Amino acid sequence: MREEQVQNTLVPSEVKDLKLAEAGVNRIEWAGTDMPVLNLIAKRFKNELPFKGLKVSVCAHVTCETANLALAIAAGGADCVLIASNPLSTQDDVAAALVKNYGLNVYAMKGESMETYHRHINIALDHNPQLIIDDGCDLVATLVQERAKQVPNIIGTTEETTTGVTRLYAMHKSGQLKFPAMAINNSQTKHLFDNRYGTGQSTLDGIIRATNRLISGRTVVVVGYGYCGKGCAMRARGLGARVIVTEINPVKALEAVMDGYEVMPIAEAAKLGDIFITVTGNKHVIDGQHFAVMKDGAIVSNSGHFDLELNLVALEKLAQKRREVRPLMEEFKLKDGRNIYVLAQGRLVNLSCAEGHPASVMDMSFANQALGLEYLVKEKGSLTPGVHALPEAVDHQIAQLKLNSLSINIDELTKEMKDYMDSWEMGS
Ligand code: ADE
Repeated sequence: MREEQVQNTLVPSEVKDLKLAEAGVNRIEWAGTDMPVLNLIAKRFKNELPFKGLKVSVCAHVTCETANLALAIAAGGADCVLIASNPLSTQDDVAAALVKNYGLNVYAMKGESMETYHRHINIALDHNPQLIIDDGCDLVATLVQERAKQVPNIIGTTEETTTGVTRLYAMHKSGQLKFPAMAINNSQTKHLFDNRYGTGQSTLDGIIRATNRLISGRTVVVVGYGYCGKGCAMRARGLGARVIVTEINPVKALEAVMDGYEVMPIAEAAKLGDIFITVTGNKHVIDGQHFAVMKDGAIVSNSGHFDLELNLVALEKLAQKRREVRPLMEEFKLKDGRNIYVLAQGRLVNLSCAEGHPASVMDMSFANQALGLEYLVKEKGSLTPGVHALPEAVDHQIAQLKLNSLSINIDELTKEMKDYMDSWEMGS
């Protein structure tokens, strides 16, 4: 147990069941053993207190990895509130442990209604934060749309995910983003690892836990070939699937072709897939006309941030009956007799049906979050309103620390190499 742990201190909070706390502590500590970079940062924060006197509202998936981030921020002196960034992703034992054993204000319950989800967002804003950590931009969007008076208090926000960063760019374009936002997703040590290896592993993990189906020999359709799509396709292939990729971007489509996947429009892939995974960040990428031609028994899931990638209203119109046949797996019995199975109500399958990305990749994502938040404080007054990336030097420092933790050494440029790279005179 951590020495800074507060035993049985109850703080204002809303979690499912405090009796789950002991399991949550074990889980938080286990994740912590695979987060060496974040641990180093937490240790420094504890000494330097970069967030002393500052209020931070964190809207994130309430997992054991996020717990380690929130504790690092709190160790840095922040007065922290943590809420869920998705109604289905909360690990209730972790939420209970954070309240009971670590004295953190947490408002999150797996399966909470949308009404509760929005009420928790308002509680996080009632906290009157100067700093925000967001995942998907719901907290910042509510602040900007409904709490204009609080905007001048904001030093800045960090944003975890591709979808959230896209929303922030749109907000900036419309002139509504009045403070700096650190696009954590844009760091290489975030998207190259979390989006690819994290989403790849956790998505297949979620599908397997939810269905207990063999992947080998099945046709898996991956909709979207960004880094998340690349990860899902790679892991599905590794498990023996025939993988089809669908894309709207010709460069990404070509990349998928050269990576050895079949590429075709979703209208064709819809007829062939046994298992579907959407990872586009866009709306209704699997729509009514696609459900209409799917094979009997097709399994459909989403690993993109929001639950709008699948048009479930259209699917429901084709169906005569809908029932849960396994936890978080619904059968839609169609009027023509076919069954289509939808996982986690179209919400993030990796966090709803499994445990999200493993700690080792969240270590780097959350090192970026922690250093991004510190950067906002250090650069207060000098960063313009808008979307910023963390400096490349910070990204490289995180990669170097991760390599150190893995005991992997790499080479350095010699003087001769440096001089060559700085010159232009020498050619053939
Ligand atoms: N996003 C994806 N996986 C996650 C995890 N394990 N914790 C927090 N956010 C996540």
